[in-house]
Amino acid sequence: MTFKTKTITYSPEETMSFAESIVGILERGDLIALIGDLGAGKTMFVKGLAKGLGVQDHLYVNSPSFVIMKEYRGEKKLYHFDVYRLEEKSFVETLDYEKYFYGNGITVIEWANKIKNILPEKYLEVKIEYRGLAEREIMIRKIGQK
Ligand SMILES: Nc1ncnc2c1ncn2[C@@H]1O[C@H](COP(=O)(O)OP(=O)(O)O)[C@@H](O)[C@H]1O
Ligand SMILES: [Mg+2]
Repeated sequence: MTFKTKTITYSPEETMSFAESIVGILERGDLIALIGDLGAGKTMFVKGLAKGLGVQDHLYVNSPSFVIMKEYRGEKKLYHFDVYRLEEKSFVETLDYEKYFYGNGITVIEWANKIKNILPEKYLEVKIEYRGLAEREIMIRKIGQK
């Protein structure tokens, strides 16, 4: 079965609520690959996920650009990566990423298209496209089967 969904949001809050609403389908070990330009709303989406997972300080979620990964504690652990400034090779060399990608929590990666060769066989692809000042199109697709 293929899972595919598409929505349009008209505010950052709506993007957050949309992300929050998909938390129900997530299982431990799932990975979400976020794809979209700078300012698309990837981090906003992660805030929504964090909220849905019961992370207390979800509003303080921001892009972990300088630390590669931030870990949040909710009902499940949330591993938030931003690989904007990294090449796949240095990402692989810098960090024991498999421990997170194939771990017990939920992994979410901003700019996941930059490391597509090392993404697991199965993951959720979330593409966010800018359509206007406050309008975004969010497309979710299951890659592989899970
Ligand atoms: N519908 C929307 N969804 C998400 N963000 C939006 C939306 N409309 C406006 N924005 C704004 O766009 C910006 C998205 O920023 P951010 O989530 O940090 O993007 P990214 O992580 O993709 O670079 C924020 O300033 C947010 O307020
Ligand atoms: Mg970001």
